[in-house]
Amino acid sequence: LAPPRLAGRRLLISAGPTFEDLDPVRFVGNRSSGKMGFALAAAARAMGADVTLVAGQVALATPPGVRRIDVRRAAEMQAAVLAALPGQDAYIGAAAVADYAPAETARQKIKKKEERLALELVRTPDILAAVAAHPQRPRLVVGFAAETADLETYARGKLAAKGLDLIAANDVSRADRGFEADDNALTVFWRDGRHEIAHAPKAQVARALLSLVADRLETGR
Ligand code: PMT
Repeated sequence: LAPPRLAGRRLLISAGPTFEDLDPVRFVGNRSSGKMGFALAAAARAMGADVTLVAGQVALATPPGVRRIDVRRAAEMQAAVLAALPGQDAYIGAAAVADYAPAETARQKIKKKEERLALELVRTPDILAAVAAHPQRPRLVVGFAAETADLETYARGKLAAKGLDLIAANDVSRADRGFEADDNALTVFWRDGRHEIAHAPKAQVARALLSLVADRLETGR
């Protein structure tokens, strides 16, 4: 019997949304149930990997055998990811990280007064780009691209700009895949190639993506 394909590999996976607090009751955040990232963690574990899952706030049970670290904000997610980075063979960024956070978090609930309220937002750290540029960069850095149009152009832009090995693009404008859905479909791009993962339950999509990861870890490409 052949050993499971990810036996002896260490995988670090991010999942779920980040929430950036405006005050004690309000936040800026992204849509994400965590299902895609949790499916990847469960599938990677089933394929024999040692898995660390950094999760934003989601209502999902931890897959058996997976080490889970819970976070809320992008800055906390980045700190948890970078702390877990040494010794990882691959990082897969499936989290929907909020790109902007309120410039300030009010300690007390902001009272409604004006008809219009302008919020000042500042960029959050790009966790995926930081991992790809890190001195302890895993051999493989895999991003996701959540797009509503021009999937290939934007995904390839992120692949190059963030220094990734693979990027898994999903169309989040459709109800039958992407955010919150039980199913997904991915187009995976790398510098000189692409691979379609057909519409299927997220567990199956996760296994197909991890098989591309295993191929690359095996060949050292
Ligand atoms: O959680 P589900 O409900 O199952 O939905 C799954 C999903 C649609 C959230 C998932 O499949 C997905 O596409 N995740 C990435 C969502 C996203 O934020 O994509 P993006 O195109 O905005 O970001 C590109 C990449 O950079 C992503 O890997 C993201 O994790 C990463 N990123 C983005 C911003 C930031 N500040 N730091 C990051 O690391």
